[in-house]
Parts: sequence; C-alpha cells; structure tokens
Amino acid sequence: MNILVVGGAGYIGSFISRELIEKGYHVTVFDNLSLGHRAAVGRDISFVEGDLADRSALDALFRSRDFDGVMHFAAFSAVGESMVDPLAYYGNNVANTINLLRAMKEGRVNRFIFSSSAAVFGNPREVPITEDHPRDPINPYGEGKSIVERVMRDADMAYNLRYVSLRYFNAAGASPEGDMGEDHRNETHLIPLALKAILGEDAGGGTLRIFGDDYDTPDGTCIRDYIHVLDLADAHVLALEHLLKGGDSDIFNLGNGKGFSVAEVVKTAEKVAGKPVPAIKADRRAGDPPILVAGSDKIMEKLGWNPVFPQLEAIVETAWKWHASHPKGYAP
Ligand code: UFG
Repeated sequence: MNILVVGGAGYIGSFISRELIEKGYHVTVFDNLSLGHRAAVGRDISFVEGDLADRSALDALFRSRDFDGVMHFAAFSAVGESMVDPLAYYGNNVANTINLLRAMKEGRVNRFIFSSSAAVFGNPREVPITEDHPRDPINPYGEGKSIVERVMRDADMAYNLRYVSLRYFNAAGASPEGDMGEDHRNETHLIPLALKAILGEDAGGGTLRIFGDDYDTPDGTCIRDYIHVLDLADAHVLALEHLLKGGDSDIFNLGNGKGFSVAEVVKTAEKVAGKPVPAIKADRRAGDPPILVAGSDKIMEKLGWNPVFPQLEAIVETAWKWHASHPKGYAP
C-alpha cells in the first residue's frame, strides 16, 4: 500500500511516517521544508520536495504514483501567530488543503486523514469535550481547521471523499529512544519551551513565560490535555485501516481525558529534569481557551485506540530525553 504523507518532515508527520513504515506501508513524503527537517524523514521513505500552493507539482505527484491514501500534516500550528497573521493561516491551512483535495480528486484518490484540532471548539461549554460538542473557534487556527472539516463533509457528499478527521488536543513527547522529537524553528509550545528553559542558551532556551495566572481554573493557569505523539501515530494508522476496510468518513477527538495546568506541567518538567524551570508570570496569550480536555471514548470504542503513554510524566520524560540529547534539534 502506498501512502502519501504531506508535511512528513514535520514533528507529527515524521512520527507517523515512521509508524507507517513499521507497519509495512510504502511512504512518500511531500514537504516544502519551510518548517520541517529533511533529517526527520527516514531513508526508507521516498521524499519529494514541493509546496501545496504549487498545483502543477501536486498534479505531477499524483500522476507519478498510485496512492491508496493521503495524510496531511503540512499546516501552520501556532495559535498566537494565527491571531497576528490570519491570512497566512487561512492561505496555508485552508486554501492549500483545498489544493490537495482537488489534486486527490483529479488523481482519483479518495482516502484522506486530516489533522484537525481541539481548537475547533473554542471555549468549551463542558468538559470532557466529545465529538458532538459545538464547534465555535476563537482563533483563526481553529477556524481554519473547522472550515476544512466542513469542506471534507461536502467533498464526501459530492465526490465520495472518505476522510477521518482527528482532532488532536496537545501533541507532545518524543521517541523513547531519544532519536526523534519536536524541533520547531520558532517554538511556541509549553513542554519544549519549559525543557529548553532548563537546558538554557545552548538549546535556544530562555525564561519561560507563564501566560496568565488569573484564569478560572484551580491554580489560575490554563489546563490542557497532553497526548503522546506515538499514541497519535497509532490513531492515524487505525484511521487509515478503517478507511482501507471501506469504513465511512468520521471525526474523532484525541486526548487522554485528563487535564494538566501550566503550573503542573512546569512542576513535572522540574521533576523529570531534576532542575528548576526559570519562569516568570506574563499576560494571557490572545486566543487561549482556559481549559481543553478530550473525551476520547469514541475512538477507543470504534477504532480500538488505546494509548501507551497516558501519563504526563512519561510524555515529558521522552521529550526530555530528546531535548537533552539534541539541544539543537535536527541540526548537525
Ligand atoms: N503556555 C505558556 N507559556 C508558553 C507557551 C505556552 O504559558 O511559553 C501555555 C499556553 O498559554 C497554554 C498552554 O501553555 O495555556 C499550552 O500551550 P501550547 O502553545 O503548548 O499549546 P496550545 O494549547 O496553544 O495548543 C493548541 C490546541 C491544540 C493545537 C495547538 C496548535 O490545544 O489543539 O494549539 O499548536 F493543535
């Protein structure tokens, strides 16, 4: 089976590519390397450098190979940045996704796994958040993901596109061996920033800013549901198998069902690393909901998903192993 992984040189896409190879699939990665790393793409993977904005490159890609399915990870993913530059987010995360769907339609490929997000829900009305919770995004990042869910639904009705939309909560962690992990040029995520703050300048770390301590949560800091990137990878393979078996389009939330505050994450980082995280209190970050916790029963029941790293400490331990051994990420 041939699977196209768009954005497979990035954090989540590279893990899923490796998981697919381990499961016996042939993987082609299409990535423009604007944010991803060539070194994150394994040697057993065909690599095509290209951009989703380039429709002729996409058409050539679909003419060159028969793909059994497509997974799409080539998106911008910083909520704060999406508030500052919404057009960049709608352009890349919505318009370029439509280019990909159009090329799939022309190439007669109709199985699609989409990286959606908890950000489609905005400020939740209740937690844990189940799939039927209303979508009401409060930032352009989440709005873009929500629009694509609508586009996929319509494309299914019109052209039989079969899709699975996986709404990740907070992806985190690295390979237990410490050879693959998170390496964003402009890191914005809490766990890598806390660990880099411990490692200091050598790892590009500085003082961690805690964005808001006056939220309506027990300790005043935001609560999130962290999910290990390998558990995400498993969910993608299960979603692909579901479509390959002829399953219908579906949407699943993906988290561990347990929320941790920013202060608790900082404490866990300190415990794992055995060193304090240099941190200061800062203003709230625009676009941040106070609490996001997943209800993931649906994917467990329907696809048999069962996380291997449900504990925050285990997630942070793998991330620490990666950052401590790769202070400059994938750079040599
Ligand atoms: N935070 C800080 N200081 C930092 C960075 C983050 O206090 O330097 C806080 C944030 O305010 C937030 C929490 O840590 O309360 C987690 O922030 P992240 O940036 O790590 O991740 P987000 O919660 O913003 O993640 C959201 C959605 C995901 C989505 C992701 C995209 O929950 O579904 O954005 O990056 F995929």
